This record gives sequence, structure tokens and C-alpha cells, in this order.
Amino acid sequence: MGFRYENNELYVENIKVEEIVNKEKTPLYIYSKSYFKKQFEKFDKAFSRKHCVSFAIKANSNLSVINTFAKLGSGADIVSKGELFRAIKAGVDTSKIVFSGVAKTKDEIEYALKNNIMMINVESMDELYSINEVAKNLGVKARISFRVNPNVDPKTHPYISTGLKKNKFGIPYDEAYDSYIKAKNLKNIDVYGVQFHIGSQLLDSKPIYDASVKIAELMKKLEEEGIEWRAVDVGGGLGIVYDNRKDTPPSVEIYAEQIEKAFEDFPDVLLVFEPGRFMVGNGGILVTEVVYHKTNSNKNFIIVDAGMNDLLRPSLYGAYHEIKPLKIEDKKKIVCDIVGPICETGDFLARDYEIENVENGGYLSVFSAGAYGFTMSSNYNSRVRPAEIMVDNDTYKVIREREELDNLIKGEKI
Ligand SMILES: Cc1ncc(COP(=O)(O)O)c(C=O)c1O
Repeated sequence: MGFRYENNELYVENIKVEEIVNKEKTPLYIYSKSYFKKQFEKFDKAFSRKHCVSFAIKANSNLSVINTFAKLGSGADIVSKGELFRAIKAGVDTSKIVFSGVAKTKDEIEYALKNNIMMINVESMDELYSINEVAKNLGVKARISFRVNPNVDPKTHPYISTGLKKNKFGIPYDEAYDSYIKAKNLKNIDVYGVQFHIGSQLLDSKPIYDASVKIAELMKKLEEEGIEWRAVDVGGGLGIVYDNRKDTPPSVEIYAEQIEKAFEDFPDVLLVFEPGRFMVGNGGILVTEVVYHKTNSNKNFIIVDAGMNDLLRPSLYGAYHEIKPLKIEDKKKIVCDIVGPICETGDFLARDYEIENVENGGYLSVFSAGAYGFTMSSNYNSRVRPAEIMVDNDTYKVIREREELDNLIKGEKI
């Protein structure tokens, strides 16, 4: 299930996308519930040993989306107090929540400890001491893992590569051993596990395997120091197909096999995963209306009503999204830039893109927009953010209303 063309018209599950768009207007995010469920089940089933899948809610943090996964048994990977608030509101079991992020404040740490989450993934010694202090004040022991930076090149876009020495994430591999020894001696810290996340949109399983092997070696050394491992958190990062001419991510089965192999000497340790993009990326589209056409010194532009404030990935990373008309009419193709209404040259959805020409008033679907789409949207240029729709077979629900002008000035004063 998910998205498909039937008689040259785009369907989501059993509804024609145009029918939804005619009622709900554009720009519009549309998600397929059955696709989300299928991805979770596929991921979950790929592992033969004890594990916990904690959906990285930064990828798509709509309550209804989180709740869909929570009902299937998913936990959550969170990076802020706000994400923890969302996860709790969406019904996630807090014992399956892991807390990542380089700058957790004492207030955030307190909120996490009060909610008794599985573990806090610590990114620096400064942060460890803050956690120890907050835990002491609350009279509890904080379960932690260090996010260890294994210095392995994930071979992905530099902006989403996180496991190299030069990246701000985690503690360096060479310092991890000493950091664990220090942590073990802190009264209000319970050394629970180890975490690593080398990057996102990984299209090769070797870097993940290499990083896992390095982490397993570290675990063995620390086991000799009396550390009892209860969890190893592999992070997220499994890539998806954005461009079917180029992207060949490893199958989840191969990914699972390699990770299980790397950690085979720790059969009783809980494997934790934080997939985001894999769960939701290809389960969502952004539908946009063609507003105008124009040609400047031989360059064609299709100007649409969705901008970088609605979908930032092309502007931020030069990311590729497939774009097609909702209705394919086999008209002449043009090469053009598909651009939004924002006053920035970087406001584009695609550049030098070959597409069947669509008249003003027609609709385009931007595919693979379910991950890091709405969650990265903003009100830049004082534009209201789009609505989000969840389709379930032949019905749909508005799971986030389109913002109104009043949303733009909420809390502001003259
Ligand atoms: C710590 C951590 N975990 C999980 C993820 C999710 O990654 P992905 O969506 O590539 O699976 C990210 C993404 O940036 C992350 O930083």
C-alpha cells in the first residue's frame, strides 16, 4: 500500500489524492497509515533477538503518527523536552524512550528523569555531571549510555553525517573507556548501555557494521571493569529510496544480520534502534498547486504554492525529491526549476528537473516527504504551515489543521 498511479491518477491507499486535495487545499502533507505500519513491522521482524524499536520522532512528530507506531509497540527516540511531551501525549511507553541530543538542559534532564525513561544518551562529560546533579536532587539514579563517536565515515551527505571525529556528536571513541570508568563511580548514575549513531540516509551497511564492531570491542573491555551492559543502541540511519535511478539502500534484513553478528557476544543485551526516515519517509507526500509559469533568459520556472518553509530538505541539503503531476496526461516534458513563493534564491523543490508540463491550477506531488518534511517546516515569510492528513484505506483524517493567520502572531505583543 502507500502511493500508486492507477489510470494515470495518483492514489493513496484507496483514495484518489485529488479528491482529498479538492477539499483540503494545498500545500498539503498526506500520509499513508498502512505504509507506516508495514515499515514498522518489516523493521521489527528483521531481528531475531531481544530488541526495542524506538521511532525517531524528529522525522515526523505528529501525535497521530507517533500513536500509530506506539500501538504497534514502538518506543521513541527524543531530542528535546518538547519531543518527550509529544511522545507521552501520543501514548508511548516511557520505558521505551531514549533521549539523544548534544545540549540537554537541567530542566530537560529533570523532566526525563521524572518520567522514568529507559535511558539518557550522554554526549559529553559536562552533560554527565549535570545529569548526576539533577538525579541527586531528585533522589534517583539516572540510567545512562554514552553516545560514542566511533569515527567511521558513513558515506552520506556531510550535513547528516554524525559519526566522524570532526562532528559535534558524542564522545570520542578514544575517550570512551575513561568516561565510562568515571561514570561508574558517580553515585547517581546507573551505567546502562552504549549508543552510537553515525549518520542518516545510509546507503551502505558496511560503515554501520564497522562501527558496531568497534563498539562491541569497547563493550568487552569495559565488561572486564565490571560494567554490566543492558542495552546497546545502534541509533537510526537506514537509508531509503528517494531517487530510484541511484539509491540502493541495504535491505533491513541485511542491516539486521550485520548488527546481530557484530553483537553476537552480547546475546542478552537489549538492542535498541532509533529509525526515523525508514519508518515514514516514503509514506508521505507534499501536494502543491502550480501557481504560475515563467521563463527568464532561457530558464523555465514552475512556481508552486509550497516553499522551503514547507519542505526544507532541497534547500538545506540539495536533497532530491521525485515530483510528478497528480494526473499524468502524457503532455510535452519541460526542463525547469520548481520553485516556491519565498524570497530566497535557495527556495526550490527541484532544479533542472524534467517534468511533464502542468498548467497553472494543476497539482504536483512531491514524493518521499514523510520524513523531515513537516517537522522542519516554519512560518518564514509569515506563511501558515500546511495541514497534515492521514489516510487509512478509504478514509482520511486531518491530523493537523492548516494554520490560520492568528497562529502567526500567537504570543506577540505591541
Ligand atoms: C540520534 C539520532 N537517532 C536517530 C536518528 C534518526 O535517523 P534516521 O531518520 O536517518 O533513521 C537521528 C537523525 O538525525 C539521530 O540524530
